[in-house]
Amino acid sequence: MSRYQSILDLIEVFKPQSIVETGVWNGQNAVRMINAAQKYNQNIFYCGYDLFENASQDTDEKEFNVKKHFSYGDVMDYLRNETNAQVSLIRGDTNETLKPIVADFAFIDGGHSLETIRHDYEQLKRCSVIVFDDYYTPDEDGLMPDISKIGCNRIVENLPHAIIESEDWVSGGGRVNLAVVFGT
Ligand SMILES: C[S@@+](CC[C@H](N)C(=O)[O-])C[C@H]1O[C@@H](n2cnc3c(N)ncnc32)[C@H](O)[C@@H]1O
Repeated sequence: MSRYQSILDLIEVFKPQSIVETGVWNGQNAVRMINAAQKYNQNIFYCGYDLFENASQDTDEKEFNVKKHFSYGDVMDYLRNETNAQVSLIRGDTNETLKPIVADFAFIDGGHSLETIRHDYEQLKRCSVIVFDDYYTPDEDGLMPDISKIGCNRIVENLPHAIIESEDWVSGGGRVNLAVVFGT
């Protein structure tokens, strides 16, 4: 199963009213999560963090980002058109913008460097459920990214966690999965 479908299944299980996402990107995952959550609560609060137009070649290299950049305004317009949730978007590096915050459901998928994921988790660890993208496992050839630099493996290994395996692969070798932990 793809990670996107697994995230929606988790929304179905936990029925959050408030959702935080680091790494909004184009906003499509936000819309999917909000729509899934609105089956259970009409009033959904969504708070998303991204570099938006502060992204650069330097941040792409530091955070192992290979995706296109989207602007704050375009993503905000998209979310306002596609949902009636109460939406808040925060522009900038989560290492500076993300402070301790509590929500029913957190999805950590912003910067992929170990340092940034660790920082984001530290700010979000009081959320009821925390889902990490970028838990890497080897592919059939034994290849996977260097988990001493990238991804959440090193962070969740010291926490009680569950892995939701996916069929999704990493360019350069490896599989990418979700990890789920409960808040403290
Ligand atoms: C993999 S994409 C997010 C995908 C989205 N969550 C989804 O499911 O479709 C990663 C996003 O994180 C953003 N990003 C990378 N490093 C960041 C940082 N340090 N602070 C905030 N956002 C960051 C990038 O601009 C990019 O839009």
